[in-house]
Amino acid sequence: MWPFKVKVMWRLLQCGLTSHPPASALTASFSRVVLGIETSCDDTGAAVVDETGVILGESLHSQKEIHLRNGGIIPTVAQQLHRDNIERVVQEALERSGVPPTQLSAVATTVKPGLALSLGIGLEFSRRFVRQHNKPFIPIHHMEAHALTIRMLQAVAFPFLVLLVSGGHSLLAVARDVDDFLLLGHTLDEAPGDTLDKVARRLSLIKHPQCSTLSGGQAIELLAKEGDRRRFAFTTPMGQIYDCCFSFAGLRSQITMAIKKKEEEEGIQPGTLLNCVNDIAAATQHTVASHLAKRTHRAILFCKAHKLLPSSNPTLVLSGGVASNQYIRKALTIITETTQMQLLCPPPKFCTDNGVMIAWNGVERLREGKGILSSSVDVFYEPKAPLGVDITAEHTCPTSQYPDP
Ligand code: KG4
Ligand code: ZN
Repeated sequence: MWPFKVKVMWRLLQCGLTSHPPASALTASFSRVVLGIETSCDDTGAAVVDETGVILGESLHSQKEIHLRNGGIIPTVAQQLHRDNIERVVQEALERSGVPPTQLSAVATTVKPGLALSLGIGLEFSRRFVRQHNKPFIPIHHMEAHALTIRMLQAVAFPFLVLLVSGGHSLLAVARDVDDFLLLGHTLDEAPGDTLDKVARRLSLIKHPQCSTLSGGQAIELLAKEGDRRRFAFTTPMGQIYDCCFSFAGLRSQITMAIKKKEEEEGIQPGTLLNCVNDIAAATQHTVASHLAKRTHRAILFCKAHKLLPSSNPTLVLSGGVASNQYIRKALTIITETTQMQLLCPPPKFCTDNGVMIAWNGVERLREGKGILSSSVDVFYEPKAPLGVDITAEHTCPTSQYPDP
């Protein structure tokens, strides 16, 4: 294995810093390095990232296929899979980085929010690791990490608006600092990724030859390309509620009813692929995109009116697993273009769960000296953890001044 310093030099050369990398780059690369560990849901991820954002080594074990076969995430199964893989995943990330544990500046681990049994495995492993190697520990909020990943990839100054959409979350927030978020809206029931996963299951897309290994969201995006959304007129949720919150459960009922009706018309049993599956996928994707776009539009108007974003080059960051969806990205591009905002999305690999975003959040906190604990401090996981200061309640967040765009 190459020693750490050789590895960093090689990375710098790969990055285009030929024979004489600036001293500052070398110093920065050598100065602080964080190991990040993610186990909040169904991915066991680890990565070693330096404070310039260079990923020195990473490893990811996805449980997706097993949960697909089980028809959803069974927490005890997720827990066992994290337990079986965490040691190897962390070892792999460290080996690939060439950074020995003694040279780590800190270990950052997701401790909230997420599945209790999954969070517990990452936290337990990390606590043992930091004690053994006597390293500082940085507990990480999973959604904060999603929100700030973009800053590892390009220069984005605070404050900026962020829309996070995944299997577990749907929220709009203003990121004002590493540890300072203003929550403008959240989902009242389920998250869009969860809805897409459930609709895909109801449509038995796992039996579709092109979709058997895809997540629900990916399967719906793929089939929608060949579908006609106009064949199903689903109502966009919360049309009469003028805030920035989301709701997807009612939309799922509409879709389930339409599927039932079509099954009766086609004379087939639930569990069989419908002929019109592409059209249902297209209409579902369109309605989810439209709901996300309308709420985000209102949030942008609210932020502008209350001067929550800079007047020059205000930014919307879109992230989370559902942000990989190109149709949803396009819908949000239309909104940002009409409101003179720039839209930034991390590439799909960084939108879904991974260890890199956790390591990077550790780097951000380390740089600002925020939330760094000694190896002996007791830390507990929190399955439920709101993001930042919640101003979604009507009396504090008069977003209702902005009717549906
Ligand atoms: O962020 P993530 O990896 O995990 C969490 O939920 O935290 O997101 C996974 C979710 C799943 O619900 C999956 O169906 C959805 O993201 N997803 C997509 C796409 N790729 C993944 N949804 C829509 N379109 C996609 N291309
Ligand atoms: Zn996530």
